[in-house]
Amino acid sequence: MTDTVKYLLDEEHIPKDWYNIVADLPRPPEPVLHPGTMQPVGPQDLEPLFPMALIQQEVTAERTIEIPEPVRTVYRQWRPSPLYRARRLEQALDTPAKIYYKYEGVSPAGSHKPNTAVAQAFYNKEAGVRRLATETGAGQWGSALAFAGALFGLDVRVYMVKVSFDQKPYRKAMMEAWGAQCVASPSGETEAGRRILAQHPNSPGSLGIAISEAVEIAAQHADTKYSLGSVLNHVLLHQTVIGQEAMAQLEIAGDYPDIIVGCTGGGSNFAGIAFPFIGAGLRGGPKPRVIACEPSACPTLTRGKYAYDFGDTGHLTPLVKMHTLGSTFVPPGFHAGGLRYHGMSPLVSLIQELGLIESRAYTQTTCFEAGVQFARIEGVLPAPEANHAVRGAIDEALRCKEEGVPRTILFNLCGHGHFDMQAYIDYMAGRLEDRAYDSAELDAALAALPRVAAE
Ligand SMILES: Cc1ncc(COP(=O)(O)O)c(C=O)c1O
Repeated sequence: MTDTVKYLLDEEHIPKDWYNIVADLPRPPEPVLHPGTMQPVGPQDLEPLFPMALIQQEVTAERTIEIPEPVRTVYRQWRPSPLYRARRLEQALDTPAKIYYKYEGVSPAGSHKPNTAVAQAFYNKEAGVRRLATETGAGQWGSALAFAGALFGLDVRVYMVKVSFDQKPYRKAMMEAWGAQCVASPSGETEAGRRILAQHPNSPGSLGIAISEAVEIAAQHADTKYSLGSVLNHVLLHQTVIGQEAMAQLEIAGDYPDIIVGCTGGGSNFAGIAFPFIGAGLRGGPKPRVIACEPSACPTLTRGKYAYDFGDTGHLTPLVKMHTLGSTFVPPGFHAGGLRYHGMSPLVSLIQELGLIESRAYTQTTCFEAGVQFARIEGVLPAPEANHAVRGAIDEALRCKEEGVPRTILFNLCGHGHFDMQAYIDYMAGRLEDRAYDSAELDAALAALPRVAAE
């Protein structure tokens, strides 16, 4: 038993419920505001965009939500995902730390994103929806929704951030193979896209812009709803299968984490691994240190303001209270496309305000350095986004070495990087730059935050 490398659970141990951390927080999340009235939205305000089952999940304070059997049936294909003990990495770092990683790259799309894509496709199909519109940054989310749409018979239209669209043509091909359509964003198809192109014909795009395009399409077509791959409460909820499984797998290993590490774009894979453990701590259990790792070129948690802001650049979405760099902020075109979002999930933001997590920012070259080191030692080639978590975990393991303390580290290896090889080519050729964001642009974006009386 002592040399075990992977901890597997059988299909019967796929969680039966998603875990909702709202039930255990000392204060409830701030209300979502209507962009016109600045008053709290009601379920009916969200109905043009989402099916009622997902709206209910967005606002519920119930601790557990039962996972519908058809969703668990699809999960069986790759869930429970493996938990690995990175024994070779521990040896190479010569650290007394134990390092575990939960590997979500085993899903058909290659990341954690299908955990929510399958659930969202299921609820939309049940509500009689014909088509879903969405955005994608890395291409992982668009692929995941294309896969889920194929299983549930839904058309899927994906607005893919231009810089990623150009970097990753095979992601587009993958989405099309599953029957979806993928368009570079900003596009000329929507008012929001045309407005950006008129001002910035060479715009690299951003998640905030692509969200505006997808929301606009959903709002204009009765048979189309909008689907979001991160940020919202129901998305984070669906991802909690990751942490629940990890807890059961660590129990088999006879361990419990002292430190949990995840990367943060909109917060969903981080919440997925961390929330079940944070919740257990809030209910009187052990309290691990939880560390969110973000890109220093888009430092939402470490530099952003905790304020009400729009979820998109075109100001079509409701306002949410979150850590934000300002909805008009367009981060430089670095390679972790899934982390190029101006905001952060309201729940992850609140949890940071409550002092339950720490956050730190890394440059992309230090993250690729960690990712290549990890690949050479452990074999798995991480997605550029996941490299931020690898960096954080390695740094913590090295700290254990310095301090001579044998801590247990758990991190989320949320996706593989098989479609991100241009980034690795650039890194290995020494061409990867650490482009700083434009401080004047950030200041302007923060100065333009909407004024909300409730703050
Ligand atoms: C592999 C991967 N990791 C992380 C992210 C960031 O999203 P989140 O913070 O919601 O997990 C993305 C988003 O596209 C992704 O593709």
